[in-house]
Amino acid sequence: MTDKKFARTLVTSALPYANGPVHIGHLAGVYVPADIYVRYLRLKGQPVLFVGGSDEHGVPVTIRARKEGITTQEVVDRYHKLIKESFEQFGISFDIYSRTTSATHHKLASDFFRKLYDDGKFIEQTTEQFYDEQTCEFLTDRNIRGECPHCHAKDAYGDQCEKCGRTLSPDELINPYNAVNGNPLTKRETSHWYLPLDQYQEWLEKWILEEHKEWRPNVYGQCKSWLDGGLRPRAVTRDLNWGIPVPVEGAEGKVLYVWFDAPIGYISNTKELCDNQPEKYGKWETWWKDDSTRLVHFIGKDNIVFHCIVFPSMLKAEGSYILPDNVPSNEFLNLEGDKISTSRNWAVWLNEYLEDFPGKQDVLRYVLTANAPETKDNDFTWADFQARNNNELVAIYGNFVNRAMVLTKKYFDGIVPKQGELTEYDESTIKEFCDIKKNLEELVEQFRFRDAQREAMNLARTGNKYLADTEPWKLAKTDLARTGTILNIALQIAANLSIAFEPFLPFSSEKLREMLNMDKVQWEDLGSVSLLEEGHKLNEPVLLFEKIEDGAIQAQLDRLARIKKENEAAAWKAPEVKQLTSIDEFDKADIRVGTVLECQKVKKSDKLLEFKIDDGMGGRTILSGIAQSYPEPEVLVGKQVLFIANFPPRKMMGIESQGMILSAVNSDGKLVVTTVSAQVANGAQVG
Ligand code: 2FM
Ligand code: ZN
Repeated sequence: MTDKKFARTLVTSALPYANGPVHIGHLAGVYVPADIYVRYLRLKGQPVLFVGGSDEHGVPVTIRARKEGITTQEVVDRYHKLIKESFEQFGISFDIYSRTTSATHHKLASDFFRKLYDDGKFIEQTTEQFYDEQTCEFLTDRNIRGECPHCHAKDAYGDQCEKCGRTLSPDELINPYNAVNGNPLTKRETSHWYLPLDQYQEWLEKWILEEHKEWRPNVYGQCKSWLDGGLRPRAVTRDLNWGIPVPVEGAEGKVLYVWFDAPIGYISNTKELCDNQPEKYGKWETWWKDDSTRLVHFIGKDNIVFHCIVFPSMLKAEGSYILPDNVPSNEFLNLEGDKISTSRNWAVWLNEYLEDFPGKQDVLRYVLTANAPETKDNDFTWADFQARNNNELVAIYGNFVNRAMVLTKKYFDGIVPKQGELTEYDESTIKEFCDIKKNLEELVEQFRFRDAQREAMNLARTGNKYLADTEPWKLAKTDLARTGTILNIALQIAANLSIAFEPFLPFSSEKLREMLNMDKVQWEDLGSVSLLEEGHKLNEPVLLFEKIEDGAIQAQLDRLARIKKENEAAAWKAPEVKQLTSIDEFDKADIRVGTVLECQKVKKSDKLLEFKIDDGMGGRTILSGIAQSYPEPEVLVGKQVLFIANFPPRKMMGIESQGMILSAVNSDGKLVVTTVSAQVANGAQVG
C-alpha cells in the first residue's frame, strides 16, 4: 500500500463470464480473497464497498448458446442466476452483484466510449478480416478453424492449435472455415476503433514500474514484460451482434469489445447501487472520482494486462476517474494435478459441491485459503481437503472450542467462571495471543491471506495446548477456583477465535458467537482477555465442524475418474488407415474362429495369458500379451474369438504358442479381444 491515507476502499472482483457455473478455481483465485479483505475492513469499521457482477457479453457466452441450442440471452440469464446464488451460498458478501446487460451498464459504457471518441482518444484503422459470405458475418479468432500449418491437424482454432499447442493467428491457418457451420471464409475490409496504448507507455512505466513497486511480484513482473515488449494500439470494437452497440453513426453491426465494456461494469454496478440507495452508499462518483478512495481489483492472472494496462489507460484517457491502488492477482488452482477446465468438466462446481457437502461452505473456504495460489499455481486434492478438515478444523479449532464449552457446562453450568489469580503459564499464554491482532493486520493488509489464516489457526493451537497442559478436568475435583480461571481463559481464546476467523470462516464464526452468546464483534476487540464477563451465560455447545469420512472423498475421486475416462474417450481418434494392401497380401493370413476353453495367467509373467482354444482341428495353445487388460482372464472362457492360425510356432516362458489372438486397441489404450457375436463353427475361416 502507498503511504497515502485513504478515506474509503472500493473493492472489485473480476466479473465472471455468464457462460457456465463457477468452480473452486474462481473461488480460490478471486472471490474468497476479495471477501476476506472486505470482511476484514468492515470488521475494522472502515468504509468499504464490494462490487461484483456477471460479464455477459463477448464470444464465450455466444459459443455456449450455440452449444446448448438456446439464445444468448437465455444463457446469460441462466448462468447469472446460478453464479449469483453460488456466491451468496459461499458467503461472498458483495454489496452489489449485477450484470453487464443491465440498462445502467449499457448507458454508462456507451457514454464512456462516446466521450473518448469525441475527445479524439481513439484511432480508426481498416484491416482485412475473415468473413462468411453466406451468413454475412465477420468471425472472431475462436470461431475460425482450419488446418494447422505446423502439425496439419484439420481443426485448429484461429488462435491456437489444440493438437500441437502452438499459438496461431487466423491468417496462418490453411483453408480456414467457419467453426459453427463449416462455410469457407473470404477476407473483407472492416474498420475499428483502437485505443493507442503506445501513447500511454511512458505514463504506465512511471505509474506502475516506479510508483507501484509494492504490487505482487507476479503482477509487477507481468506488467514489466508487457511494457518491455512495447505496447501497440488495441481494437476496442468488434464485428459481432451480441454486445453494446458502438455509439457512432455508420457503426451498425459493431459492438464494444467485451474487454472494453466489462471493467466499466465495476463503475456501472457501483452507480446502480448508489443510485438505488444514496442514503446508505452516497454518490457513486465519490467511490470513483474522489482520490481519497482506494481502489483495489481482485483478479486471476489471466486478467492482469486488462486491469493493469488497458483499463487504467481507458480511465486515464477519460480523465475524471481514480486508478487502482493495488491489483492483487492470484495464480491458478489446479485440480488433482490437471488444469481446471470448463469444457472438459474438470472442476469442482460450487453448486455441485453444496449438494455433496451441504453446510460445509467454510470447509471449502478454509482449504482454498490454506492452499491459495498466491505466489504460484497450486493443486486442490480431495485427500488434502479431507486432511485439512479432519486434522485442522475438527481436531484443532473445533476440538478446542468444544472442550472449553463442554467443560464449562459440566463444572459451571454453562456460566463464564471467574478469572482468578493468573499463574506465570497463564500470563505467557495470554501474551501469545495478544499479538494476534497486529500480526493478522500486517498479513491481511499485504494480501497474504494464507499466512493470515494460519495465524488464526495458531491461536486455536495455543488454546488446545493450554487445555492439554493445564488439564482442568483433573483439577475440578480438587481446585474448582483454579479450574474456573483456566476455563475463563479458554473461553476468552474461543471468543477471540470468533473474531480472528470472521473474515475467513464467517459461517463458523457466527455459529461460535451464537454458542458463546456474543453480540456482533469488532476487530478492535481482538487480543482482549475480557471479551466474556464473569457470570455471562453461554448457550448449548454444538460441534463447529464434523469429520469427513473416506466414503465421501472416494465418491469425489470416482466422479473425477469417470470424467477423465469420458474425456479420454471423447478425445480419442481412430488411427490413420495403414498403407494400401492387396487382397493377395491379406489372403496370406489364415484367420479362423475358435472357442476359448481355458484362459489363465502365465506364471512369472505380467503380460502373458495362455489360451487353450477349440480350433475345430484338435485344439491348440496360444499365448497373448494382454494380461494387463484382463485381470480376471476366466471371463474369456466360452467366448468365440478370432486367431491367426498360420503363424510359425514360438516358445515363450517355456510354452509353445501356436498362433495369435486378434485384439483391438481401445480408446483408453487397453486391449480388447475381438469376439464373434453369431455362432460360427470352430475352425471356420475369416476372409
Ligand atoms: O476472464 C474473465 O472471466 C472475464 N470475464 C473477467 C472480466 S473482469 C472485468 F473486467 F470485468
Ligand atoms: Zn498444430
